[in-house]
Amino acid sequence: MATEIIENIDSKKLRGGYYTPQAITDFICKWAITKPTQKVLEPSCGDGNFIESAIRRFKELGVSEKNLFGLIKGIELVENEANKSKARAAKYGLNSTTILNTDFFNYISNANGEAHFDVVVGNPPFIRYQNFPEEHREVAFKMMEEMNLKPNKLTNIWVPFLVISASKLNRFGKLAMVIPAELFQVKYAAETRVFLSKFFSRITIVTFKKLVFADIQQEIVLMLCEKDVTTNKGIRVLELNNLSELNSIEVSKVQKSDVKVLEHSTEKWTKYFLDETEIQLLRKIKNDTRIKPCSDIMEVDVGIVTGRNEFFMLSKELVSKWKLKGHTTKVVSKSNHFKGIVFSEEDFENNSDDNCPAHLFLPENKEYSLLPKVCREYIAYGEEMGFNTGYKCRIRKNWYITPSMWSPDAFVLRQVGDYPKLILNKTNASSTDTIHRVRFKTKVKPENIALSYLNSLTFAFSEILGRSYGGGVLTFEPTEIEEIPLPLLGTHKIDFKKIDTLIRQRKIEEVMDIIDKELLIKQLKFSESEVQMLRGIWKKLAGRRNGRKN
Ligand SMILES: C[S@@+](CC[C@H](N)C(=O)[O-])C[C@H]1O[C@@H](n2cnc3c(N)ncnc32)[C@H](O)[C@@H]1O
Repeated sequence: MATEIIENIDSKKLRGGYYTPQAITDFICKWAITKPTQKVLEPSCGDGNFIESAIRRFKELGVSEKNLFGLIKGIELVENEANKSKARAAKYGLNSTTILNTDFFNYISNANGEAHFDVVVGNPPFIRYQNFPEEHREVAFKMMEEMNLKPNKLTNIWVPFLVISASKLNRFGKLAMVIPAELFQVKYAAETRVFLSKFFSRITIVTFKKLVFADIQQEIVLMLCEKDVTTNKGIRVLELNNLSELNSIEVSKVQKSDVKVLEHSTEKWTKYFLDETEIQLLRKIKNDTRIKPCSDIMEVDVGIVTGRNEFFMLSKELVSKWKLKGHTTKVVSKSNHFKGIVFSEEDFENNSDDNCPAHLFLPENKEYSLLPKVCREYIAYGEEMGFNTGYKCRIRKNWYITPSMWSPDAFVLRQVGDYPKLILNKTNASSTDTIHRVRFKTKVKPENIALSYLNSLTFAFSEILGRSYGGGVLTFEPTEIEEIPLPLLGTHKIDFKKIDTLIRQRKIEEVMDIIDKELLIKQLKFSESEVQMLRGIWKKLAGRRNGRKN
C-alpha cells in the first residue's frame, strides 16, 4: 500500500508537480519579500524555483550569505525533488535544514503552533480529493475544521495549502501564490473566497490572457494577499497578456493602483474583472425586485446519459443499416445542432440528413427475448462489443434502455461558446447530457421567454454565473442557469420568426439591439448607457474567455 501511494504521488500529474516559471517566482518574491529579516515559507517547494528566487531577492535587499540562514523554510513531500531544492539552497551556503522532506500538513501540525512566517510564497499542488493521500488529507481537513472551514469530497488539495499557510502568517504578513483560476468560480471554493476576503485586507490578483501552463490547460492567477494594511483596503485585478509583461510591471505602481470593495460573500469573483461602476450596476440590478431569476419560470434539468453514445446514438445511415426504424427516438447531442431559437421537425430532419447522430436506440422496455428480431440483433452486437459492461449500462435492469427519457419544453445550452441560448422544442426530441432540458413553470408564452433570454442583462449575468477555465467555454450546472436573472417581455410587437431567422444568420448583436430596446429600455426603463454598459460587460467577459481558446 505504502509503495502504491508513493508511486501515485510520484507521477508528475497526481502530485501536481508543475513547476513555476522563473518570471513568476521572481515577480512573486520581489512583491512579497521587502525586508531583509522576513521569515519566508514555501509549503511545497518542488525542485526549488521559489527558494532560489527568494534567496536572490534577499541578496538584492543586501542580506549576506551568513544572515540568510533561518530566513527561508521550504517543504517538499517527494524526496528526489526535496534533494534538488536542498542542492540549490546549498549553492548559497544554506544548510540542509532549510528544506524539509515531509508532508506540509504534518509539518504544520507537528510544529504545535510554533510555525509563524512573515511571507508565504509558492504554487501548491492541484490534486483532487480522491488522489489526495488520506494520511495527509486527514491532517489537512482537521486543521481546516479547527479554522471553522468545512472541507468536503470536492475539496482540491490547493485549498488547504492556501488557507492553512495563510493562517500561519504574522500580523502584517503577505501571501503570494500561484492558484488555479477556478478559485474565482467553483462552488467548493466559495468558502475559501469568504475566508480570504475576511482574512486579508488587500488582495491583488494578477491574471493572464494567455494560458501560462499551456500543457496542462489550467488557467492560473497570482494571488497577492496582505494582512492588516491600513490604506487602500479591497481587491484589484490586474490583467496581463502574457508572462513577459510581468517583467515590466513595477511593484510600487501595482501597490498604488485603485482597489474595489471586497465583499465577504460566497459569490463568484469573476465580477472583479469589471470596473467599480460596472459592479455597482450589477449590484443595483440584483436588488431590483422586478427582475426575477430563471428559476421563477423554469426548471432546468440535465439531459439523458446513454452510458455509451457510440452504441446508442445513431446516424440515419446506421438506423437504416440495422433496420432500426421505429426503434429509435429523436435526440440532440451538440449545441451546434441548434441553429435558431426554436427546434422544429425541419431542424431535426436537417440534422438527420447531415448524418448527425440524431437517433437514439430505444427499444420497448422489455426483456431481450420479447423484443423484435432487429432489436435483438443490435443488442447482441452491443454485447459482443462489450458496450453493456460499462458502469452506467451495467446497473440498469435492461442495459439497453436509457432512463429518464422525456422531451422538454425547451433546451438550454450547458456549454456556451459565443452566447447563451434557450431553444424552444417543437418536436418530441430529448437531449443528451451535453445540453440541459427545461420545463416551463408558468403560463408565459414560451416564445416570449425565448425572446426575453436574448438581452444584454441576462448575457452579462450569464458570464458571471457560469464557469470557465482553461479553453474558453462557459459551462453551467442546471442550478447556475436557474440563478440567471431573466427579465420578461410584456406586450410587444417583436416578430419571433424574424428573430429566429436573424439568429440562424448569426446576427446576435442585431437581435440584442431589438430585444434590449424593447425590454430593457422601453419596458424596464434602463438608460441607454446602462444597457451599453451591460453589453460591454458581456463582451468583455466573453472576449476574455474566448481569447484563451486554442
Ligand atoms: C505544483 S508543484 C510546485 C512546485 C514549486 N512550488 C514550484 O512552483 O515550482 C507542487 C509540489 O507540491 C508537492 N507536494 C504534493 N503534496 C505535498 C504535501 N502534502 N506536502 C508537501 N509538498 C507536497 C509536489 O511533490 C510538487 O513538487
